[in-house]
Amino acid sequence: MAPGKNEPVRVETIVVPDPGPGEAVVKVQACGVCHTDLHYKQGGINDDFPFLLGHEAAGVVESVGPDVTDVAPGDFVILNWRAVCGKCRACRRGRPWYCFDTHNATQKMTLADGTELSAALGIGAFAEKTLVAAGQCTKVDPSVSPAVAGLLGCGVMAGIGAALNTGEVGRGDTVAVIGCGGVGDAAVVGSRLAGAARIIAVDIDDRKLETARAMGATHTVNSRDTDPVAAVRELTGGFGADVVIEAVGRPETYHQAFYARDLAGTVVLVGVPTPEMKLELPLLDVFGRGGALKSSWYGDCLPSRDFPMLVDLHQQGRIDLGAFVTETIGLDDVEKAFARMHEGDVLRSVVVL
Ligand code: APR
Ligand code: ZN
Ligand code: ZN
Repeated sequence: MAPGKNEPVRVETIVVPDPGPGEAVVKVQACGVCHTDLHYKQGGINDDFPFLLGHEAAGVVESVGPDVTDVAPGDFVILNWRAVCGKCRACRRGRPWYCFDTHNATQKMTLADGTELSAALGIGAFAEKTLVAAGQCTKVDPSVSPAVAGLLGCGVMAGIGAALNTGEVGRGDTVAVIGCGGVGDAAVVGSRLAGAARIIAVDIDDRKLETARAMGATHTVNSRDTDPVAAVRELTGGFGADVVIEAVGRPETYHQAFYARDLAGTVVLVGVPTPEMKLELPLLDVFGRGGALKSSWYGDCLPSRDFPMLVDLHQQGRIDLGAFVTETIGLDDVEKAFARMHEGDVLRSVVVL
């Protein structure tokens, strides 16, 4: 629980209501520590303290409310923070991954004294149990490790989806990934899965480049000492990459992504910028270089389609999602995990319950 802006997080007793219509209570087995949790704690998302943090989670459905038919008690599920409504204009047009009316549980979890908790991304899974909308639960093969499965609930799905869904990386494509944290590395994994011929990892930290190579990058560029645009062009016959994935979320790295791409190529922005950031580009270059400049929300994933598929590929050894779990920790260690994340020491710390 994050009690107030920049205050240390702490473990508290919470009250989880019985599930109402359309809701489910999930016994959490694992939950990754994501940057967004830290942003909540720092007051960077909104001021609705206290927050119940944690949103990259997997667990077992304990009980469901009336009218819930998609999941049942005992199901092993990954939680998602974009439950498809089925009724909004995106859903009606057959693009449910864009759902504009995603929903969460209606009831609130509270502290023992009745204070309402704001659940991070409508999940709140640094807890033994959490209350969510049933549509936030996606059933997957229960033989996968919960620590691995939970990561698909946010950052790893965002990165893989940035390559597969948003960037539509295809066989033989050249791809550059700028920023190789958990999200960028997942974009490397997604690009490899899609059959990319070259995957160029760009970062300012050699440790990150080493990990990116282990995940499937074929080339690495340290952009602290090398101009990444020139380097990517050199590695792609002088042209630039077909798809460039920006997984930092800063104007300067977006600028690099824009120019490191071939004519008519695709830029995917999956890194999340902050409100004060501005981008300046010659409009003539935006026109003249053609192609697509896309943003990737949650990897444009469709949980019901993508979560089970990626778990299956992991179980078959065709992708290694275990490589994203740097350490498993207890519920008491989240504050320490934030510090390690800040130092860039971990891809993911995962709370295991
Ligand atoms: N150029 C290249 N790489 C950079 C730069 C830069 N100017 N600045 C930072 N990086 C690298 C870091 O070295 C690190 O490897 O970007 C990576 C960011 O990784 P993480 O901090 O682990 O963040 P991650 O979880 O991967 O998320 C990346 O996506 O979901 C969003 O909010 C998230 O904006 C963040 C981004
Ligand atoms: Zn919808
Ligand atoms: Zn997250």
